[in-house]
Amino acid sequence: MTTLRFTFDGRDLAGAPDSSLAAALTACGTRVYRHTNSGAPRGIFCGMGVCQDCLVTVDGQPNQRACMTPLRDGMQVQTQTPRPDLTAPPVQSRTAQRLSPAVLVVGGGAGGLNAAIAARKAGADVILLDERKNPGGQYFKQRASAGLPPLDPQQEAGRKLVQAALSAGVDILTQAEVWGAFDGPEIMAADPTQVHAIRPGAVIVATGAYERPAMIPGWTLPGVMTVGAAQTL
Ligand SMILES: Cc1cc2nc3c(=O)[nH]c(=O)nc-3n(C[C@H](O)[C@H](O)[C@H](O)COP(=O)(O)OP(=O)(O)OC[C@H]3O[C@@H](n4cnc5c(N)ncnc54)[C@H](O)[C@@H]3O)c2cc1C
Ligand code: FES
Repeated sequence: MTTLRFTFDGRDLAGAPDSSLAAALTACGTRVYRHTNSGAPRGIFCGMGVCQDCLVTVDGQPNQRACMTPLRDGMQVQTQTPRPDLTAPPVQSRTAQRLSPAVLVVGGGAGGLNAAIAARKAGADVILLDERKNPGGQYFKQRASAGLPPLDPQQEAGRKLVQAALSAGVDILTQAEVWGAFDGPEIMAADPTQVHAIRPGAVIVATGAYERPAMIPGWTLPGVMTVGAAQTL
């Protein structure tokens, strides 16, 4: 399989194209991604974008979640220091667009995909947003790289569900994170290249759930992670 080259704190590393940055770092034996204000080390913990323990600086851009960032060839990754400089200009500027679908679905897991298909079948135009690289969510998690065969029947079922949503005419926007909801409703989301200001007729929130860890001594040590993170790796 072709490998992607990247650096971590100046070290040359390689990873599989189907990896998140966190998976590639883990495969290379790297556990510490950042340090807190008190100097305590942190590494991948939740593996699903909800805990911020895996923040790294990528190509000069701080606060990137390694577990949600697809590995790219040539990436320059650095351990994140406490209170990183946030004044660096974004690597890629974003354009803005206004959208006004009849139905907006936030979350592309089993719940969101089925809701979107039902809304399409009822005649509504539907936009579905998911912050991950591919829809599928936690249960139907799809492989990061398009075109690779599903790893098991669960992934295959997810692939079919995503295909059914696309065939039904659902407009799926990926790597699009909803970060705010205001009166209107007006929903704000951003992907790596665009900012979306969305005024939908109706909103379906299908953002799933995440693990609530038991806090025991040592639970923040790099290498200690949730079952979900281990499952994802
Ligand atoms: C760690 C873990 C392990 C699990 N393991 C199993 C198992 O082995 N077997 C089993 O049967 N069930 C398992 N479950 C339960 C199963 O994953 C859920 O029942 C199922 O995924 C729920 O589907 P959903 O569509 O409601 O949510 P999810 O599948 O979680 O989908 C929600 C989607 O919303 C997206 N999202 C969230 N916030 C935003 C935002 N702000 N902007 C854009 N997108 C957003 C997420 O990226 C995700 O893709 C597990 C759950 C977890 C958390
Ligand atoms: S946000 Fe990446 S490990 Fe929790």
